[in-house]
Amino acid sequence: MDRQNKKIFKSFYSEFYDLIYKKKNYENESKRILNFLKLKKNVKDILELGCGTCSHSIFFSKKFNIHAVDKSPEMLEIAKNKLLEKKIKNIKLFKDDIENLKFRNNKYDAILLLFNVIGYISNLDKFFNTLKKFAKENTLLIFDFWHQDAIHFEGPKKIKKSFVQNNQELLRNSVGKLNKREKRIEILIDTVLKSENKILAESSEKHLVRYYNLDFLTETIQNARFEVIKYEDFNKLGDPPNKKNWNAYCVCKFVG
Ligand SMILES: C[S@@+](CC[C@H](N)C(=O)[O-])C[C@H]1O[C@@H](n2cnc3c(N)ncnc32)[C@H](O)[C@@H]1O
Repeated sequence: MDRQNKKIFKSFYSEFYDLIYKKKNYENESKRILNFLKLKKNVKDILELGCGTCSHSIFFSKKFNIHAVDKSPEMLEIAKNKLLEKKIKNIKLFKDDIENLKFRNNKYDAILLLFNVIGYISNLDKFFNTLKKFAKENTLLIFDFWHQDAIHFEGPKKIKKSFVQNNQELLRNSVGKLNKREKRIEILIDTVLKSENKILAESSEKHLVRYYNLDFLTETIQNARFEVIKYEDFNKLGDPPNKKNWNAYCVCKFVG
């Protein structure tokens, strides 16, 4: 993982993560994933990599056993408290770097990376190859990613957002820079936490997030003995990825 990305997902980001993404429709996204999971019979055990605060896995826990991995202790702490509060016992949390997993060799029915976790992987070839050890025949690998056609059609914009909680306001300004040579977006995020016009805390983060073209992705996936079942637009079930939406899903299976 890039040194820059190692520094993020620290406390400031984690502390406000669920507030910042309050409007993200985890429930609908999870229903979409449940639909993809029907492509394999008898799904019982799921591995979620880059689980963050477990907002997707909490939905999946109604039907499946989950091992959820993240490298950020702060994100995992929030996830742990959510699981305790909701009395969820079938999600087990593990702190690990998914690019260098020391994790036991369990086999899963599905491996999930959700909310562009794949964009933070520095060596995709190596990463997909390490996933083999967690896969059995027909294990599904499902992830969402940013795809090149849309990013080259409409590059990053400046985004300004404000969130209010407990008399505090969090202001978040982000600006992305397209780096076509490295196929990534360099995103600078400035965050200010205010209360009654007084600044309580400030932070600046830089995220380096990769995007992929479908041919490269398909080839890399095949090299690791997975097979692409389909690519779909993030918002519309059944539609192929299109120029208007950066986000797309990839659904694959392990062919052994
Ligand atoms: C955009 S967040 C997505 C979190 C969660 N999947 C969600 O949908 O809310 C990316 C997550 O990936 C984790 N992550 C990034 N690189 C990682 C790595 N190399 N190993 C483990 N976790 C990683 C971060 O800590 C963060 O929680």
